[in-house]
Amino acid sequence: MDKKSVKDLDLQGKKVLMRADFNVPLDSDKNITDDSRIKAALKTINYILEKKGKLILISHLGRPKGQPKEELSLRPVAKRLSQLIGKPVKMVDDCIGQKVKDEVDGLEPGGVILLENLRFHPQEKANDQSFAKDLASLADLYVNDAFGTAHRAHASTEGVTHFLDSAAGFLIDKEINYFQKVLTDPKPPFVFILGGAKVSDKIPVIENMLDKANSIVIGGAMAYTFLKAKGQEVGSSLLEADMLELVQKTLAKAKEKGVDILLPLDHIVTDDIKAGKNLKTTEGVDIESGWIGVDIGPKTQKEFGEKIKTAGTIVWNGPMGIFENDLFSQGTKSIAEAITESQAVSVIGGGDTAAAVKKFQLEEKMSHISTGGGASLQYLEGKELPGISALSDK
Ligand code: 3PG
Repeated sequence: MDKKSVKDLDLQGKKVLMRADFNVPLDSDKNITDDSRIKAALKTINYILEKKGKLILISHLGRPKGQPKEELSLRPVAKRLSQLIGKPVKMVDDCIGQKVKDEVDGLEPGGVILLENLRFHPQEKANDQSFAKDLASLADLYVNDAFGTAHRAHASTEGVTHFLDSAAGFLIDKEINYFQKVLTDPKPPFVFILGGAKVSDKIPVIENMLDKANSIVIGGAMAYTFLKAKGQEVGSSLLEADMLELVQKTLAKAKEKGVDILLPLDHIVTDDIKAGKNLKTTEGVDIESGWIGVDIGPKTQKEFGEKIKTAGTIVWNGPMGIFENDLFSQGTKSIAEAITESQAVSVIGGGDTAAAVKKFQLEEKMSHISTGGGASLQYLEGKELPGISALSDK
């Protein structure tokens, strides 16, 4: 990366404001159900503490819409982080103001505090410059390691960089290295696997991948819009009718560019998603009226699997079906397993796809599981991530 790294900073005795993405899932008792994002920030946190920086951690959690919300407090994160680093992490009830300043002044070199959810203030998302200045005034240096939030130009990701010398943490560096490698120098054949519900969210990434991938494998509910655009019957499956024309154009472009688009050949269907009863496999690609596609069928799993096993590079974003329900998870599982049987460099987009890989306990077999959902998608679209572009150049 051409951006300054935390390694380039003199941290000894300095107040370091570090933006992390601690937006972790919580259950109704506020227990963290997946601490991967906290663990992913540990390398930078431990480095700053070892170098005797005074660490001020900031993050958002959820979408509190500019209001304090007890259920979205970062307290559970302070507790978990403290267990992981083996030292106290003091939680401060706000992220700006005199009380926060006093806590920062009391920090010893090698000490750490976590400030309360940035999004309790509407100025965070508005990238309000005076709020950004207040955050910046707490510290001497700024480190961004929140890859998952790097696509947001918010006060804590973009605004603060106007006031402090700013560097990237180790997680951002690692994420960008993987994504850059697959986008600029992929070992062929490059297979891009795409799933999830909506085509409209994924058209920009398909457009960008048409210039990079050799094959694009499409599953999940978005595949029904592709199949409909090709004249197939999709029954009562999710369909974005207003996208049909655009999808037809995308298919034509793929043909022109020689990119192989693989669509499902059969499906698992139900006439009652909630109950999951009357599950059956379609004979072929068409889905009868009244039936809803919920996963890719066995023929498709085999065809997709064969393509994946021979890939040199794989990027996967989006599940093949409603994998959260065990009855509809086999298609997504078969993709994860095929990846483990390949020799490819495999990069898994965050969010649902990362959750699926974890559910099947195959995380260790992937080259890289991104901590960014929206951020990784935006990078794959070929767009800049404002939280990274804003950092100081090397
Ligand atoms: C994420 O979970 O993708 C990031 O933490 C960003 O969250 P946001 O979509 O609420 O900005």
